[in-house]
Amino acid sequence: MTSGSKGTSRLKLTALISLGLCILLFLGSWALGFQEQPVNTTFYVFMALGLALLWADWARAKTPATGASAPKKQKAAKAKAQQTTAQPAQPAARREQQRVSSGALLNGHYAVEKELRVGGMSIITLARDTNTGARVVIKTPRYDTHHDCKINVEKLEIEAEHLSRFSHPNIIKFVEKFTHSGVLHLVVEYIDGEDLFTGFARVRAEERRVIRWADQILSALEYIHSNAVVHRDINPGNIMLRRDDSVVIIDFGTIKPPAITSGTEVRKYGFEVPEQVLWRYADERSDLFGVGGTLYYLLTCTPPGSIGNQKVDRLLTDNYGVSQRTARCVAQALQVEANTRFQSAVAMRRALCSGES
Ligand SMILES: Nc1ncnc2c1ncn2[C@@H]1O[C@H](COP(=O)(O)OP(=O)(O)OP(=O)(O)O)[C@@H](O)[C@H]1O
Ligand SMILES: [Mg+2]
Repeated sequence: MTSGSKGTSRLKLTALISLGLCILLFLGSWALGFQEQPVNTTFYVFMALGLALLWADWARAKTPATGASAPKKQKAAKAKAQQTTAQPAQPAARREQQRVSSGALLNGHYAVEKELRVGGMSIITLARDTNTGARVVIKTPRYDTHHDCKINVEKLEIEAEHLSRFSHPNIIKFVEKFTHSGVLHLVVEYIDGEDLFTGFARVRAEERRVIRWADQILSALEYIHSNAVVHRDINPGNIMLRRDDSVVIIDFGTIKPPAITSGTEVRKYGFEVPEQVLWRYADERSDLFGVGGTLYYLLTCTPPGSIGNQKVDRLLTDNYGVSQRTARCVAQALQVEANTRFQSAVAMRRALCSGES
């Protein structure tokens, strides 16, 4: 029993005693022959006291959390409830984020130089292979993201598995993978240049260059699709520019066979593929939408998400001086309905790049 209910019973008891005394006084007076005036002042005092106490008891019962300590208790209970709900579930794969310090030697021959980037899923570290002198990039999963970190680990495993089998001049080269302190480390070639998102945020790329890069990207996609998988995250942040002006596709953590559904991929804001967002569905044509978005960004410095209801080809020709052919191809790649896009990387490459040097 709580102290509140104890207080209530005490009140009720006192009230009943007072009223009981009233009845006794009344009956006693009657029995003693004071029929003319059966009640006196004492009777009124007890009657008033009894009724007051009964009213107090009723009021208390109507508001269960009364008494001086009740609001405090309510607050404490509320705070406790909030504390319980606010605590995030501990993701299964969460562990302390390990930062590789420069100078460390990993796997016996990778001398760490510096942390290059902290991506959405992973940490990109620059290292030198002491055996060959070549610079490499070591990619490790992030363990400090808000979403379940198990996903970051799984994506890196998927990326390592596919890259170890791929060989194409415009796909990042796999070097090796190893485990250090229980953490998967993926080693790939180092690209001494910027990703296209960073590199072309303010300066528009020349159309001729864009077509040449499109040719290389689509050639890599032909290769990827011929392996019965879809990249599913083609955007300028996942394409890098080498010093020799060739482009290379990176970040294969989202690669999967077509039509496999999944809700876990994180897409770059402004470059979302309609069917991936709406239906969690992706096939080869989703990657071609990604190419369309990348080309649009390179030619305009704005993501395709900002186009809205405007006509893509008109926008490109009228506002940015892009040729009709390129504008039409980009517009077709960016069709919301996958059936009206190019149906393969081969078809898009032929329409956009054939005849270009
Ligand atoms: N091999 C590399 N050489 C040089 N820089 C690289 C290399 N790989 C990745 N980077 C840089 O790190 C960034 C993030 O890499 P990546 O996309 O592979 O990681 P991520 O965790 O998937 O990141 P995000 O979720 O932001 O796409 C790239 O955009 C690029 O700037
Ligand atoms: Mg990426």
